[in-house]
Amino acid sequence: MCGIVAYVGSQPAREILIEGLKRLEYRGYDSSGIAILNGAAPYLAKCAGKVAQIEQRIQADSPEGATGIAHTRWATHGKPTEINAHPHRDCTGDIFVAHNGIIENYQRIRSVLTAAGHSFCSETDTEVLSHLIESHYKGNLEAAVQRALQDVQGTYGIAVIHSGQPQQVIVARRGSPIVLGIGKDESLAASDVSALAQHTDQVVYLEDNEIARLEPGRFSIKTLDNRSISRETQALEGGSEAMDRGPYPHYMLKEIFEQPEAVENALRGRLNHSEGVAKLGGLESVTDRLEKARHLIIVSCGTSYYAGLYARYVFETLTDLTVETELASEFRYRKLNIRQNTVVLAISQSGETADTLAALREAKRKGALVLGLVNVVGSTIARETHAGVYSHAGIEIGVASTKSFTSQLTILLLIALLIGRGRDLSYEEGERLLRGLEEVPDQIREILAESGHIRQLAEIYSSASHFLYVGRKYQYPIALEGALKLKEVSYIHAEAYAAGEMKHGPIALIEPSFPTVALAPEDSSYEKMISNIQEIRAREGPIVAVTTKGNTRLGPFAEHIVEIPRNESILMPLLAVVPLQLFAYHCAILRGCDVDKPRNLAKSVTVE
Ligand code: AGP
Repeated sequence: MCGIVAYVGSQPAREILIEGLKRLEYRGYDSSGIAILNGAAPYLAKCAGKVAQIEQRIQADSPEGATGIAHTRWATHGKPTEINAHPHRDCTGDIFVAHNGIIENYQRIRSVLTAAGHSFCSETDTEVLSHLIESHYKGNLEAAVQRALQDVQGTYGIAVIHSGQPQQVIVARRGSPIVLGIGKDESLAASDVSALAQHTDQVVYLEDNEIARLEPGRFSIKTLDNRSISRETQALEGGSEAMDRGPYPHYMLKEIFEQPEAVENALRGRLNHSEGVAKLGGLESVTDRLEKARHLIIVSCGTSYYAGLYARYVFETLTDLTVETELASEFRYRKLNIRQNTVVLAISQSGETADTLAALREAKRKGALVLGLVNVVGSTIARETHAGVYSHAGIEIGVASTKSFTSQLTILLLIALLIGRGRDLSYEEGERLLRGLEEVPDQIREILAESGHIRQLAEIYSSASHFLYVGRKYQYPIALEGALKLKEVSYIHAEAYAAGEMKHGPIALIEPSFPTVALAPEDSSYEKMISNIQEIRAREGPIVAVTTKGNTRLGPFAEHIVEIPRNESILMPLLAVVPLQLFAYHCAILRGCDVDKPRNLAKSVTVE
C-alpha cells in the first residue's frame, strides 16, 4: 500500500528518496511524488504511474537540497492522478505532507478550512492535513503538526516538512507504521524498514499517538499530548543484503529458493530433543495461561489465513484444544464466545495488516490472551500482542508470500507441539515430529533442484484459463494456497476445493480444457484422494498430481506427476507447497506478468 520515505542530512536528498521509493515499490502503488527543500523555492514533482517516471523527472531537474519527503500512493480517495499524488501542499506552498492511512473526518475539516479561505486542488483526504497544519503554524512546525492532529479522526503515518525549517522533518503515527533510521549526520523515516536498510541499521519504531522531530543524526519523540519519550535505537535484523536479488531475476524466485534457510531459521535453537518438545522463548511469559487454555481462535488474512487453516488440523491432532480459524476481516461479525481460557493467535508476515490488527485489538478488549506469529520484527502486531513468536524468515519483498508461509507452518507446528507435550502428546510422538522437521530443509532443497521440471509443466499449462486445486485434510489449505499463488501472480483463474466437495458441485466444471492440480502424497488421506482423482479423470479432466517420490499408483490417472520426498503426513504440506509456488511463478513469467508487483495488489494491506 502507500509508502513514505523522508530524509534530512548532508547528502543530496533526491537520490536517497528515489532509492527509498524503489525499495517501497513492492508494497504496491499507482502514483508517486517527491518534495525537496531547496532554499527559497522548494521542489515538488508528482507522477501517476511508476517510480521510474518520477526518477526521470528528478534526473532531468536535478533539484538541490538535503531535506525531503517522498511517497508512493495506492489510491483510496480520488483517482491515481498526478494532482492526487502526495506530497500535498498548503496555500502558502511552504508545507508539504506525505500521508498513509485514511482521514475519516476530512470532509468536515475541508469545509471548515474552505470557509476560512483555504483552497484545495485534489480529491484526497490527505490534502486537508497540509492546510490544517498551515492554520496552526506560528513558526514551530512540530507544534503545528501536534496541534493539527488533535482535530483529526482516522489513521495516519505522516511526514511533514516546511521550507522555513529546512533542517527538520516531522513524522507522526496513529495506526499506520513509521520507523526512524538514525545514521551519522543524517536521519531518515519510512513506513517500512526496507526503505532504510541500505542507509543505517539503527532504527526506532514510533508508537501510535507519537510525534518525532528528525534532524541530521538526531531525533526526539513525544506523545501527541506532549509527554517526552526516551527511546533507544535498536539494530535492524537482516540488513541491506536481504534487499538484493542476488542471481535471481525476481524476488519471488529468490524467496522461494530461500525456504530451506527460512525453515532452518524457524527451527534454530527451538528444538529440545531430550524432552521431545519445542522451546519458544517468546511464549515463556504466558506459560501459565497457555497451560490453562481450552479454546484457540486463529485470525489472519490471505496466505497467513491458509497457514491458520493448516494449524487448525495440526492443533487438533497434537493438542486437546478446540480450534477455530477465522478470517480477520470477518472476526468482528461473529459471536466468538471469548472466555477466560481462550487464546487468540494472530498470524501475519508484515505485522501491519489492518484487519488482523483490528481483530487482535477486539480480542484483547474481550479479555483473551492474544499471541502473535509475525515475521517483521517490531511491527505493530508484534508489539500489541501479549506474547508471541517471530518467524525469522528474513525480509520478504515479493508481494506473493512464499518463504513466510513455510516458516509460519513450521512455527505453528512448534507451538502445537509445545502445548501438546504439556497435555497428552507422548515423548515418542513429539520426538518423531522434531526429527521429521529437521529433514524438511534438505527435502525442500531436493524439490527446488527440480525447478526445471516445474517450468516444463508451466510451459504446457500456462495458457489455461482456469485451474482447480484439490487436497484433503493437511493438504486442503495447501490447495487453497496453491490456487491463490497462481491467481495473484499469473492472473489465471484458479479455485481450490477440499477434494471431498467435488461431487457436491465443482465436478460439473471438469472437461478436457480444465486442468486440476491434485495434492496426493501418500499420507493419511491418500486412498480417498485416489478416488477423487479417478472421478476427475473419468470426466477427461487433465491432472497434475503432486505425490510422494517413487509412488507409481497414480501413473494411469495423471497426465503429469510431481514428486516430493516422504515425511510425516502432518509435515508434507511444507513440501507440497513448494512446487505449487514454482508453478505459479513460471506460469506468470511465461505470461509476461510482473510477478513481484502483481496488478492491484499490495504487500502490506494497511487499510481495512
Ligand atoms: C499472499 O501472497 C499475499 N501476500 C496476501 O494474501 C497476504 O498473505 C495477506 O495480505 C496477509 O498479509 P500478512 O501476512 O502480512 O498479514
